[in-house]
Amino acid sequence: MTSLLQAVMICIAFQFLGTANTLKSLQIHVPRAVLTGRDAELMCTYELEGAQLYSIRWYRNMIEFYRYVPKESPATKVFPVAEIKVDVASSDQNRVVIREVDRMLTGEYQCEVSADAPLFHTDIKSAEMVVVEPPLLNPNVTSDRMTYVGGDHIRANCSSPPSLPAANITWYVNEQMVPGFTANHVFNFSNGYASSLATLELEAAVLSPVPTLMIRCEASIYDVWKATSHTIVLRERSANPASALGRSFTGGATETCLPTILMLILQILLQFLIENFTETSIR
Ligand SMILES: *[C@@H]1O[C@H](CO)[C@@H](O)[C@H](O)[C@H]1NC(C)=O
Ligand SMILES: *[C@@H]1O[C@H](CO)[C@@H](O)[C@H](O)[C@H]1NC(C)=O
Ligand SMILES: *[C@@H]1O[C@H](CO)[C@@H](O)[C@H](O)[C@H]1NC(C)=O
Ligand SMILES: *[C@@H]1O[C@H](CO)[C@@H](O)[C@H](O)[C@H]1NC(C)=O
Ligand SMILES: *[C@@H]1O[C@H](CO)[C@@H](O)[C@H](O)[C@H]1NC(C)=O
Repeated sequence: MTSLLQAVMICIAFQFLGTANTLKSLQIHVPRAVLTGRDAELMCTYELEGAQLYSIRWYRNMIEFYRYVPKESPATKVFPVAEIKVDVASSDQNRVVIREVDRMLTGEYQCEVSADAPLFHTDIKSAEMVVVEPPLLNPNVTSDRMTYVGGDHIRANCSSPPSLPAANITWYVNEQMVPGFTANHVFNFSNGYASSLATLELEAAVLSPVPTLMIRCEASIYDVWKATSHTIVLRERSANPASALGRSFTGGATETCLPTILMLILQILLQFLIENFTETSIR
């Protein structure tokens, strides 16, 4: 009976220690991507329920580069790891600021928090950070033709020069995003850089409401870099101008682009003149 009581009391004691004196809700916030040369702010948040903080340690690929122990003087220690430049004045028990990151600093970052005696409860979380070296030039778009008639098969290429990592490519046709495009081909170079090439294949609509196709592409790397190509404008050759008058002019794209509207007006005028000319010459 006594041993059962003891067991219950030990159990209660553990429950109490387990909830009242511990470290909870450890979360790490590391930017997914940072541009080379910029500063990176790494954050670690946690709750200490009744316990005192013993230490915070930050690691890159499991090697410690920053330690904060409030009971020691100085509280902060920085270890020389992979050229990490810690801004000590901006760093504390929640945050580490790294100045002017370079590509060597891509890797896995860990934050380890320890509560003080008697339990020294410790938890660790990790997250990946990529240092981005963007391409030196905007993406370039080329097309196999500059004019088309309805039903034509159109191919366009978009290439993004070498970057680290390879850029994602997104196509826009008449300013509408073409869904589901990243890059069809990635070419890796020995220095770690990679370039992207994407091919867009379109079939020109037979009764399209707009007589031009404006094609451009965008290259992006995570949410830290983005650039657009120039826009190439493909014009429809009217195979049979008179039949084209039956078109409806309610295309959504006409609202968004002035050049298309101008082209449309020009074409209507032209067709009207031709129509008038044909009718008069028949009479
Ligand atoms: C785009 O690529 C084409 C074909 O390779 C080349 O002739 C053209 O100069 C490039 N344009 C730009 C802006 O780089
Ligand atoms: C697109 O790229 C492919 C593969 O490099 C090439 O064969 C083709 O000629 C290119 N087309 C255009 C329009 O640049
Ligand atoms: C290029 O490198 C990436 C990342 O290292 C890899 O996933 C991909 O398979 C490589 N592609 C080629 C064509 O070698
Ligand atoms: C490319 O796009 C995919 C899908 O949206 C995304 O998961 C990936 O992080 C992107 N890569 C880069 C380098 O932006
Ligand atoms: C169409 O032809 C008629 C008769 O020749 C002429 O009077 C009229 O001005 C023309 N309209 C246009 C828009 O050219």
